[in-house]
Amino acid sequence: MADTILEMENVVAGYGNTTVLHDIDIAIEDEQIACLIGPNGSGKSTLMKSIYGFADVMAGTVSFRGGEITGRSPQENLANGMSYVLQDASVFPGMRVHENMLMGGYVFEDDEQAAQRAEELYDEFPILGDIRDQQAGTLSGGQRRLLELARALMVDPEVMLLDEPSIGLEPKFIDDVFERIEQLNELGTTLLLVEQNAQKGLSVADRGFVLASGEIKYTGSGDELLDNEEVGRLYLGG
Ligand SMILES: Nc1ncnc2c1ncn2[C@@H]1O[C@H](COP(=O)(O)OP(=O)(O)OP(=O)(O)O)[C@@H](O)[C@H]1O
Ligand SMILES: [Mg+2]
Repeated sequence: MADTILEMENVVAGYGNTTVLHDIDIAIEDEQIACLIGPNGSGKSTLMKSIYGFADVMAGTVSFRGGEITGRSPQENLANGMSYVLQDASVFPGMRVHENMLMGGYVFEDDEQAAQRAEELYDEFPILGDIRDQQAGTLSGGQRRLLELARALMVDPEVMLLDEPSIGLEPKFIDDVFERIEQLNELGTTLLLVEQNAQKGLSVADRGFVLASGEIKYTGSGDELLDNEEVGRLYLGG
């Protein structure tokens, strides 16, 4: 059995006085892909934000590698080996691709280290290397998503949280993004995805969670959830 790398226990979370998540208990195993699905507004993004320090945790604990991280700031989490790609476009449109990449490495002590890491990533993502001097605001949706993904890799994270990596992309780019996700996982990165394309998300996932009205309703392997009649009817449009 793999070790648990990320865990939420009895977590109640939301924003200020608004509670969105009730009693969340999930465990994510090291070097696996976990996928969270559920209807719009069910709290999927809030769950990620409550792990990463963008939402308020009112009760319960969040742990990373067995140590409690509840309430830590996004900066601390990033420096600690966890990175997060937000659901909404988060590139700096007025900056060049390369400057965006360097921003992803702002936790590095020296600039040389960040520049070196960016070069490594241009080798892995040649498309980005080709457009490194282009203003990020002029990128296509697929290019922008690739930049967001690569920028989140600047810190060589152990765990990546990806909120809706395929949303708004043309089918050919969707396959590309999922290929990247599986590749990253094969290299040892643990991933937690939120995916509106539930079939696709669960099909690459070792573990799946169904969230509805702020509660985890089903947990199982990706295949178990895909085969579950009730999950299919209620959440996979089948
Ligand atoms: N910053 C905020 N302040 C207050 N309420 C918020 C905030 N962000 C989200 N919410 C509320 O939390 C609930 C869950 O939102 P969340 O974005 O987590 O859902 P989601 O499952 O990610 O939805 P979607 O599939 O549309 O991305 C919604 O009722 C939303 O209005
Ligand atoms: Mg969301």
